[in-house]
Amino acid sequence: MSVRRSVCVFICVFCFCCALENVKRFSVQELTVTQTELKDCEEQMKLCVTSSDDCLYSLSDGVPQVPRTPENFLNTSCHYLYHEKSFTCRWIQTNNVRSQTINSFIFSRHKDFWHCDQVFFIYSTFNLTIRSVIGQKEQFSAVYPLFMQDITQAPQPLITSVNVTDSSINVTWDGSEKSITECRIRYKRLNAESWTETADFPASIESHFVIEGLQAFSEYHLSISCFYGFGRWSNWSNDTRVKTSESLPSAAVSLSYYVKSEENSQQLLLLWKALEDTDARGFILGYEVSYMPIKQPSQKKTLNTTHLKVMVPVRAEEYEVSVCAYNGAGRSPYRQITVNASFSHDVAAVKSLWVYSDGSSLQIFWEHDFSAVNVSEFAIEWSAMTDPEHTHWKRVNGSTFTAHLTGLEAQQTYIVGVSPVSECLCGPQTLISADLHHGALLDLVRFRVLNVTRSSLAVEWMWQEAKPKVSVIQYRLLLSGPHEAQSLTVLPYKQQHLFLHLHPNTKYSIHIQGQTKHGNFSKASLDVNTLLLDSDEQMRFTALAVLLLLLCGIFSVLTWTMCREYFSPIIANPRYSLIGRWLLNPHLQGSAEICVLKLDSLFPVEQQTEKSILQVERRVSLISDHEDVFPLKTSSSAEDTALWKPSSDYVENAPTPTSVPEYVDLPLFPETSGYVQN
Ligand SMILES: *[C@@H]1O[C@H](CO)[C@@H](O)[C@H](O)[C@H]1NC(C)=O
Ligand SMILES: *[C@@H]1O[C@H](CO)[C@@H](O)[C@H](O)[C@H]1NC(C)=O
Ligand SMILES: *[C@@H]1O[C@H](CO)[C@@H](O)[C@H](O)[C@H]1NC(C)=O
Ligand SMILES: *[C@@H]1O[C@H](CO)[C@@H](O)[C@H](O)[C@H]1NC(C)=O
Ligand SMILES: *[C@@H]1O[C@H](CO)[C@@H](O)[C@H](O)[C@H]1NC(C)=O
Ligand SMILES: *[C@@H]1O[C@H](CO)[C@@H](O)[C@H](O)[C@H]1NC(C)=O
Ligand SMILES: *[C@@H]1O[C@H](CO)[C@@H](O)[C@H](O)[C@H]1NC(C)=O
Ligand SMILES: *[C@@H]1O[C@H](CO)[C@@H](O)[C@H](O)[C@H]1NC(C)=O
Ligand SMILES: *[C@@H]1O[C@H](CO)[C@@H](O)[C@H](O)[C@H]1NC(C)=O
Ligand SMILES: *[C@@H]1O[C@H](CO)[C@@H](O)[C@H](O)[C@H]1NC(C)=O
Ligand SMILES: *[C@@H]1O[C@H](CO)[C@@H](O)[C@H](O)[C@H]1NC(C)=O
Ligand SMILES: *[C@@H]1O[C@H](CO)[C@@H](O)[C@H](O)[C@H]1NC(C)=O
Repeated sequence: MSVRRSVCVFICVFCFCCALENVKRFSVQELTVTQTELKDCEEQMKLCVTSSDDCLYSLSDGVPQVPRTPENFLNTSCHYLYHEKSFTCRWIQTNNVRSQTINSFIFSRHKDFWHCDQVFFIYSTFNLTIRSVIGQKEQFSAVYPLFMQDITQAPQPLITSVNVTDSSINVTWDGSEKSITECRIRYKRLNAESWTETADFPASIESHFVIEGLQAFSEYHLSISCFYGFGRWSNWSNDTRVKTSESLPSAAVSLSYYVKSEENSQQLLLLWKALEDTDARGFILGYEVSYMPIKQPSQKKTLNTTHLKVMVPVRAEEYEVSVCAYNGAGRSPYRQITVNASFSHDVAAVKSLWVYSDGSSLQIFWEHDFSAVNVSEFAIEWSAMTDPEHTHWKRVNGSTFTAHLTGLEAQQTYIVGVSPVSECLCGPQTLISADLHHGALLDLVRFRVLNVTRSSLAVEWMWQEAKPKVSVIQYRLLLSGPHEAQSLTVLPYKQQHLFLHLHPNTKYSIHIQGQTKHGNFSKASLDVNTLLLDSDEQMRFTALAVLLLLLCGIFSVLTWTMCREYFSPIIANPRYSLIGRWLLNPHLQGSAEICVLKLDSLFPVEQQTEKSILQVERRVSLISDHEDVFPLKTSSSAEDTALWKPSSDYVENAPTPTSVPEYVDLPLFPETSGYVQN
């Protein structure tokens, strides 16, 4: 078994080595000979060679009798340069040895060459054999029958000058070669993929050609190739780079505006877009802005600027505004708009702006609310803090909320502004400052809980101008609890957030997380418990409890009063009763006489009054026409008894008596108690 296996392995290795040995190598070979390098063979008049060794071969039918391997000579092509009297062949040699190659040409024909000069004669025909000696090995190509005229190539022309207009190039080349009959030119715009070739045109004596229909202010590559009328086209001349001249800008700028109203003064902001290169058709030197109150054309003002934005003071009236761009060739068409500066209808500014640095460029993000108007574009402006006059602009379409700013300097702080543009209206800029080291120069601080209820949680934070330690891609606000997790991006317009639909009496943790290129970090965090009851519920609860307490109190007071009334009789104060007072009268003390108050004569003792409730009624003007106060008479007559009523209601609100009975000393009734009990 093992013997057989090792034999197998051996065979495999051998085959592999053989295969390696047979791998074909390709090499591009080229040999150029001139007239002087050709050698006659003394014996063989039908041969001309470049190496004397090749004279040995015998000929048959104008072809050397040699063993040929055409498969080793691929894609052979030969040409003759008439001017230099040089003959060149180029081919691809295949062989399997890595060794130096020595090549030679064998020119032969079945008629004798009188002299080898005859080989490079324009009408000569011959057979060519290429001999290659590779190491020790000799290889011969196939027989190539050649007709000199067919392989003669015109010399590479030389473009001597170009003259441009804004749409054409006049190309002039070296016309010293008089035999040239035709030429062609190819050209392409800088960075274009493919060439455009002109049709073949006759090579005039002046040797110039005008290419037309080109774009203004564009750089072109061009080269030319010529032809004798037979044989091969020359190689293309070396590329010439040429730029067409400027012409008037072809399009008007797209212009938008907004009116900024401050108390009693209006500012008109005009914002326009740089022309595309194809429209600018030259280097834009600046913009001419003019604005004129429609009612007072004499007050027209014009200014030149190189910026893409101006702010001009206006009055609250209608203006005609026009803007044009100009380059070296002149002005673009004017863009004219009519602005009513008495009312502003600007597009809402972008809601938020954030910048993140990736070390060599700034990536900016923003948000926009589209509810009011459709934003067609956003205009991004940025400038270095130390060079605010030198601004850069970029535009992105209305569905793009990010832009990439490049070409920034590491040590600079930049101010970046984004304005929304909706056709001819635009909105105020939202600004942020940033640098390549820190990203946005804003830090998130003072994260705190604002309000907690049973089901909601409000948190608040602030943005502060600062240089953060790292460039934060974005801040995220994360809430996590036993039942849920929420997360949202936090941008500078946001300063608080309300989490809703939370569970009562549950612990939540809230984080502000910063995301950076290298990972996430926690900026701030809070742990909060939602309430068991809301404050209004607490209030209701408390109110209920107080009410209950109050009811209980009233109930107990009532119960107590009733109990007292029924179970503990009231002890009368004798001072409040007539009889009592009489009895207590000090004048009676020590007198020998016994004074008797004859009750019968004072009051008719009735059933009701026996209960000893005496009531005093004073008829005080309750009846309006009876102003007098009735004297309290202690007569027994029927009409007089009416003055004394056993009813309690009547007296309760009665005022203090102004008059007392003539013959009894009545006590003053306290205001609140209208009755006397004994
Ligand atoms: C030879 O030329 C032909 C066509 O011109 C091309 O397809 C082929 O790849 C060339 N052979 C080699 C070995 O380059
Ligand atoms: C070249 O060789 C062919 C045979 O391969 C022969 O027929 C022909 O006549 C030769 N050409 C010249 C110019 O001798
Ligand atoms: C280029 O052409 C313009 C007008 O055709 C001419 O005025 C100018 O002299 C020309 N320049 C050259 C270098 O030929
Ligand atoms: C092109 O340039 C040549 C020489 O510079 C001049 O003779 C010729 O008139 C020019 N042609 C045009 C159309 O300008
Ligand atoms: C033509 O171009 C080829 C390759 O680009 C080069 O090898 C050859 O020498 C050129 N011929 C002339 C006449 O310049
Ligand atoms: C073309 O360019 C090459 C290299 O750039 C240079 O060697 C050659 O002389 C040039 N040819 C002409 C005709 O100017
Ligand atoms: C603005 O520039 C244009 C073109 O250079 C010039 O014609 C015009 O006089 C300038 N206007 C002002 C107000 O400077
Ligand atoms: C400009 O706007 C104001 C306020 O809307 C309006 O009263 C006035 O008529 C407008 N002017 C013109 C000329 O439309
Ligand atoms: C915004 O554009 C859409 C589609 O182009 C259109 O339907 C909508 O009415 C526009 N809204 C406003 C406010 O112009
Ligand atoms: C807006 O621009 C973006 C990026 O350049 C592009 O992918 C998108 O198709 C554009 N949208 C429209 C409506 O042109
Ligand atoms: C807290 O939230 C509740 C319910 O949303 C609200 O009634 C209350 O006014 C808020 N308190 C504060 C201080 O914002
Ligand atoms: C950072 O946080 C974001 C959003 O929460 C997440 O998508 C990302 O995977 C996190 N990156 C790392 C490194 O944890």
